[in-house]
Amino acid sequence: MRPTDPPSDASNAPSTLECRGIEKAFGGVPVLKGVSLTLEAGTITALAGENGAGKSTLMKIASGQYRPDSGEVFVRGEDLHAGNTQMAHRLGVSIVPQELASVPDLSVYENIFIGREIRGVFGLQRKAMIEEARKNLEVFGVNVDPTARMGSLPVGIRQIVEIIKATNTGAKAILLDEPSSAIAEREVERLISVMRHLRDRGVALLFTTHKMEEIRAVADRVVVLRDGNLVLDQPLALLTDDDIVTAMIGRELEDLFPDRNTPGEETILEIDNLEVDGAGGPVSLSVRRGEIVGLAGLVGAGRTELLETVFGIRRPLGGEVRVSGRVVKKHSPSAAIAAKIAIVPEDRKGAGAILSMDVLDNASLPRLASFSTASLLKQGARRAAVRKATESVRLKSRGLNQSMETLSGGNQQKVVLARWLTGPVDVLILDEPTRGVDVGARSEIYRIIVALASQGMAVLMASSDMPEVLSLSHRALVMRGGEVAAELSRDDLDRTDVQDKIFRLASGLS
Ligand SMILES: Nc1ncnc2c1ncn2[C@@H]1O[C@H](COP(=O)(O)OP(=O)(O)OP(=O)(O)O)[C@@H](O)[C@H]1O
Ligand SMILES: [Mg+2]
Repeated sequence: MRPTDPPSDASNAPSTLECRGIEKAFGGVPVLKGVSLTLEAGTITALAGENGAGKSTLMKIASGQYRPDSGEVFVRGEDLHAGNTQMAHRLGVSIVPQELASVPDLSVYENIFIGREIRGVFGLQRKAMIEEARKNLEVFGVNVDPTARMGSLPVGIRQIVEIIKATNTGAKAILLDEPSSAIAEREVERLISVMRHLRDRGVALLFTTHKMEEIRAVADRVVVLRDGNLVLDQPLALLTDDDIVTAMIGRELEDLFPDRNTPGEETILEIDNLEVDGAGGPVSLSVRRGEIVGLAGLVGAGRTELLETVFGIRRPLGGEVRVSGRVVKKHSPSAAIAAKIAIVPEDRKGAGAILSMDVLDNASLPRLASFSTASLLKQGARRAAVRKATESVRLKSRGLNQSMETLSGGNQQKVVLARWLTGPVDVLILDEPTRGVDVGARSEIYRIIVALASQGMAVLMASSDMPEVLSLSHRALVMRGGEVAAELSRDDLDRTDVQDKIFRLASGLS
C-alpha cells in the first residue's frame, strides 16, 4: 500500500482468494466434495494431503484453469469463474504447476515476458526486457544471465523464473503446486526465501508439499485435504507433526521406516571400473543379495548417470556390469531386463511412465512384448498380476484402464514401482523412489523395498532424502564428481553426526 492510499478497514476488506463449497467430479467420481478455503494477503498456507486427495485439482480450480461443478471462487470479491480464462490473469491469480510449463528453447527473459513483451515504436524493447529481468532475478537472489537458454538451467532455477513471471504479472495470489518435488535441497532453501519475500510483499501464497520440514519452515497455516474433503484448517503454531499426518492419512502413522532385513552373503550386482559417459568415474561397487545400498551425494554428483548406465540407457566408455557373475554384454534396457535388472527412474515423466497409456500397460511395460502375443488366458494372468502389484502399493486409481495422465503424481510413481513386482528381478535400481510421494504411501513403499530385499533382490538406491538413506541402507556410498568418494558402514550411519559427515564428503569439504 502506498502512503497516499486511504486507510482501509482490514476486517471489511475481501479476502485475496476465497473458495466456497467447491465440488468437482471426473467421470462421475467426486474428487472435491464441497471445499471452502480462504487465503489472506501476506500469508503462506500449506496444502497437504495424500496423493490423489485433490490438491492439484483444487489449485487448478482456484486459478481458473478448471471450472468447478458447483461452488465459487472469489478474488478480492470478484467472481473468478464469471468470465473466460483471462479472468485469473486480470484478477492477479497465478499458478506454478506441478509440471513446469516454461519454454526450454526460449531465453530466461523471453520466458518472463512471454505474452506481455515490452514494445516501443521500433518494435520489441529487448534491452529493456533484459534489464528488467536482470533486476527481478537479483531481487529473488538468483544469479543467472537473463539471456541464458531456459532449457540449460537446473530445474530449481527454472521454477524460480516461473515464479518471477507470475509475480511480474502483478499476481496477488500465487499457487505453487509441489514446488520442491523436482529440486535439490539447496534449491529448496532459495525457494523458501523467495516465498517469504513474496509474503512480505503482501502476496497470498498457497503451496503443496509432502515434506513436513517445509511446512514447518515456511507455512503460517496448514490446510489438509483427505479424499476430497477439507479435514483440517489451522495455524501451524497450534499443530504437531502428528496432527498433520493423522489428518492426512486418517489414522495414526506407526513407524515411517520398517525394520531392516538381514542381507545375504552372495554378491549379486558388480559394477567394475565403469566409466560413465560425461559424468566421470570409473566406479566400482557391489551389492549383495538382500542388501540395500544407498547412494548419497549432491545434485550433479553423477548418481542418475551411473544408474542409467547400469540399466543400459547410457553406453559406458569402459568397464563392465555383472549380475550373479555373468557379464551384461549389451548396453540396452532390454539386455538389462534380460539380466534381471529393474529400474525405477528419477524422472517418471520421461523415462518412467508413458502417460498416454493406461495403468495396465504401464505396469506391464517391461514384459509388454511377451503379453501382446499372448492368449486370452495369459491376458487374464497379466491383469491378475498387475492388479495384485497395484494393490500391494495401494494404488489409488479408478481401475487398470485409467490413463496414466489422469493419475495424481504420487500414484504415477506407484505404478512405475508396481511394474517390477510382476516379474523376476535380481537387481532393483531406485532413483529417488519417493519423490512427490505422500507420507502414508512413502511408508508403504519403504516396506515394499525392504520386503523385496528380504526376498533376495539386491537394491541400489540413490536418494537425496537423508532419513531415507540413513534408515533403509545397510551401507551407503557418497558420490562426488562421478566417483565414489566414501563408503559408510551401518555403524557409521548410526552415528549422530553422520548427516554432517555425508554433506562434507559430498561437497568435498573433508
Ligand atoms: N483430468 C482428469 N481426469 C480424470 N481424473 C482426474 C483428472 N485429474 C485428476 N483426476 C483424479 O482426481 C484425483 C485427484 O487428483 P489430484 O491431481 O488433484 O491429486 P493430488 O492431491 O494433487 O495428488 P498428488 O499428491 O499425487 O499430486 C485423482 O484420483 C486423479 O486420478
Ligand atoms: Mg498434485
